[in-house]
Amino acid sequence: MPLSIVILAAGQGKRMRSNTPKVLHAIGGTPMLERVVNVATGFAPDSIYVVHGFGGDLLKQRLNHLAVEWVEQTEQLGTGHAVSQALPWIPDDHQVLVLYGDVPLITRSTLHELLMAAPLDGLGLVTAEVNNPRGLGRILRDKKDRIKAIVEEKDASRQQKLIKEINSGIIYAPSYHLKRWLPRLHADNQQGEYYLTDVVSMAVADGVHIETVMPERQEEIMGVNDRAQLMHLERYFQTRVANRLMESGVTVMDPKRFDLRGDIEVGSDTTIDINVIIEGRVKLGSRVHIGPNVVLRNATIGDDTTILANSIVDEAKIGEHCSVGPFARIRPGTELADKVKVGNFVEIKKSKLAEGSKANHLSYIGDATIGQQVNIGAGTITCNYDGVNKYQTVIEDGVFIGSNTALIAPVTVGAGATVGAGSTINKDVPAEQLTLARSKQVTIPGWQKPKKKD
Ligand code: UD1
Ligand code: CA
Repeated sequence: MPLSIVILAAGQGKRMRSNTPKVLHAIGGTPMLERVVNVATGFAPDSIYVVHGFGGDLLKQRLNHLAVEWVEQTEQLGTGHAVSQALPWIPDDHQVLVLYGDVPLITRSTLHELLMAAPLDGLGLVTAEVNNPRGLGRILRDKKDRIKAIVEEKDASRQQKLIKEINSGIIYAPSYHLKRWLPRLHADNQQGEYYLTDVVSMAVADGVHIETVMPERQEEIMGVNDRAQLMHLERYFQTRVANRLMESGVTVMDPKRFDLRGDIEVGSDTTIDINVIIEGRVKLGSRVHIGPNVVLRNATIGDDTTILANSIVDEAKIGEHCSVGPFARIRPGTELADKVKVGNFVEIKKSKLAEGSKANHLSYIGDATIGQQVNIGAGTITCNYDGVNKYQTVIEDGVFIGSNTALIAPVTVGAGATVGAGSTINKDVPAEQLTLARSKQVTIPGWQKPKKKD
């Protein structure tokens, strides 16, 4: 049967105390609403409707890459009213699944179970047994354990408040039932809202079969109302990612100090030390060692490479058997071939270093193409910018650049050349020879130190 998914996201999220709509706050670097849309998309529904209110323009702008229909709820009159806003667009023969933009960690498997469990023509709900049900709707069941109704905390009697089975809010029902039930909702409750949950007692009255499923983990159905809850789910999410990596053969030194804000692909026997942040798309080979406090963003790192402490690799590709850092900054457009060594306080931007080359200390290499087996001495700078334009530096195979050399681009250093330390190079350097560009050292014989006057 065709499926339509409705995601509620109209609540303002006051307790976030934010100018950004709540559902744009991220878990693992991805906005909560985007996470829910991604799970929804996995079911290949006919359409996904996002019901928005506060900050709708910002939502559409930030998430315009998502294939969803935006439906506005101008006044937040309750969850039932919110679903009613999307319903006119949904054909009668569709099944409807209602999700929440601020319940970001719902899994495909729990929803799959719900879709399988709910009988055709029936109503499906996701519920959970929790230790602290405060603030949540309680599931009322009869003696035969059949569900009777959902009562909201604010409307519940003291006896009902003791119930530990709560409503996640996620429901699944045929469109034609919702179209009959929702117009009949009343707002005569403590909050003066049209409660979606009231369709449960209507279903019972109509003799419609109701099936409930429970998630594997409570965090799956936890909503986010404030920043503390957001970070609780963030840590849960990160621990889960770290555990999954460990199961696949990666050592994560401390799963509590690991952060993935994107996607990672890792070979086997790779080690990730503490406080590593991984953003965007990152690919690590096998036997890679990532040191502590490293940031990797949209990076590919080959087998047997080590990234030492406190380094940043951003939009770059690093080959096999390389060593980078500590305290190295590899910037966008950099490609290091195999067996390259980049040491401390070296910054490399939009440059290529071929196999076996080294820049071990204190350098800036920008807009450069560097051949094989090149040695870049400490303090070497490519002067790639004249204040207006950027220029290229080419260093051919086997070159030795002495320490503290300034290479004023555009410039080419020929294969096998040696540049003496302290040189300022502003003309091409011939291959295989020693080139120096520095003032000659002189010693003044018989020179006297000045003396203090009385
Ligand atoms: C709702 C359920 C409750 C359940 C709880 C789980 C109802 C009446 N109650 O309560 O049984 O235990 O979720 O977290 O459904 N929203 C709109 N438009 C509105 C109102 C809400 O889009 O007019 C959205 C909110 O953005 C939010 C979601 O619906 O994502 C839930 O709304 P909220 O007011 O937080 O409902 P709860 O009181 O938490
Ligand atoms: Ca809520």
